[in-house]
Amino acid sequence: MNIQGLRFVITGSANGIGAETARVAAAAGARVMLSDVDHDAGEATAAEIRDTGGDAHYTPCDVSDETQIEQLMAATADAFGGIDVLHNNAGTHESMIGNEVTLDTMSRRTFERILQINLVGPFLCAKHAVPHLRESEQASIINAGSTASFLGFPQNLAYGASKGGVATLTKNLAVELAPDGIRVNAYCPAGVETEMVTRFVDASPNPEILRKAVVNTHLVPRIGAPRDVANLVCFLASPEASFINGVTWLIDGGSLCWRSTVDVLGMDQ
Ligand SMILES: NC(=O)c1ccc[n+]([C@@H]2O[C@H](COP(=O)([O-])OP(=O)(O)OC[C@H]3O[C@@H](n4cnc5c(N)ncnc54)[C@H](O)[C@@H]3O)[C@@H](O)[C@H]2O)c1
Repeated sequence: MNIQGLRFVITGSANGIGAETARVAAAAGARVMLSDVDHDAGEATAAEIRDTGGDAHYTPCDVSDETQIEQLMAATADAFGGIDVLHNNAGTHESMIGNEVTLDTMSRRTFERILQINLVGPFLCAKHAVPHLRESEQASIINAGSTASFLGFPQNLAYGASKGGVATLTKNLAVELAPDGIRVNAYCPAGVETEMVTRFVDASPNPEILRKAVVNTHLVPRIGAPRDVANLVCFLASPEASFINGVTWLIDGGSLCWRSTVDVLGMDQ
């Protein structure tokens, strides 16, 4: 996996999967622009990467604001002389912004807010990154899908709709950008240990049962780690993945290859 020198811009990279991708990419010699709405954490993550010898900068960017997206892409191109990899990682769940998590309680405003961040955000980031990506010899876009791109879950209406959209946005962008030599892929994780999963589980009327249910669909007997996903993102960005395009790549510990829970295998996590 040779991503040495590739110029990454990663949205939502102050915490969780985005921050870990920035760490892994920088450790492999990539140049990384972090961005987020959580500025203290974003600056701190960029500083931590620089302290270990990595090339990392931070630019604030709320992906629901097109002007900020334009500024982020310009700042990345200014800092690195171009962009090779757009990692559309920023995302949120209805349980992160309140308690409107069911059809009865969810307002149109909350539903649209989730779509704005998770689906319109990646579209706008692609729109403003592509003029720079067209100049790259190793251009790709990597979007954050989810197992929720394919399946229903409890208390997941807006998030699921947005991630289903990300899966088809990925395929359509891959088609449209093929003549420019820009590959477009998505990673689709099951449960990964981050703040988002904690909030999703805690918003349930039965958090204990839901947490167990999330992990008990994994054939690999653990919750995912941000590092698992970061490694996949860096691989998808690398020249070794140059024949991989338009995929919605499951990284789910086997969760979606079957329809049951591990109790029936005599396993209990
Ligand atoms: N954790 C999981 O189990 C899981 C599973 C499937 C998909 N994903 C997806 O992976 C991506 C990363 O999730 P995570 O688990 O690391 O979550 P996280 O909550 O740990 O990190 C998400 C980051 O996005 C930032 N963010 C939120 N709204 C933003 C906005 N409007 N503009 C810019 N940044 C914003 C947050 O501040 C945070 O730093 C998301 O798109 C998420 O939907 C996560």
